[in-house]
Amino acid sequence: MDRRTLLTRVTLAASGAMAALVGAPIIGYLLAPLFKPEGQEFISVGPLSEFTLGRTTRVKFKDPSPLAWAGQTAETALWVRQRSAAGDDMFQVFNVNCTHLGCPIDWRPEAKIFLCPCHGGVYYPDGRVAGGPPPRPLYEREWRVQDGQLMVRTQKLPTPAQKG
Ligand code: FES
Repeated sequence: MDRRTLLTRVTLAASGAMAALVGAPIIGYLLAPLFKPEGQEFISVGPLSEFTLGRTTRVKFKDPSPLAWAGQTAETALWVRQRSAAGDDMFQVFNVNCTHLGCPIDWRPEAKIFLCPCHGGVYYPDGRVAGGPPPRPLYEREWRVQDGQLMVRTQKLPTPAQKG
């Protein structure tokens, strides 16, 4: 092996080692959220006094399930329907996303329907599909009452493409 070939190989090996040294932590940082166990905790979306029997209320919700770099897209909302004064059927907590292609739905109190502005999907107050393209009812989140707060479970819900 001549000197030029040797230097070329040493340079290539040193460059590869440097690239691995610098790149491994970056790749690890980017991929780590994919292997992180999914959050399964309950978080408060407000005191019970914020909800009224028979009313559907929008609450802010920071979804902990998206990837670490989700940023503002993790800020989302839920629709909370109080349907009784107490008990297991006290609330229904709906994801804000339409089950067709995921657009945020709106509650129309005068018509008592959820309406999706994207393709006209319509849902009844209990989340069942009333019309339009949505293939299934709204996704509901588990909830419980604790220390006067409505707590909502942060589990990951299927995207429309996953057809959960
Ligand atoms: Fe809601 Fe299409 S995204 S109807």
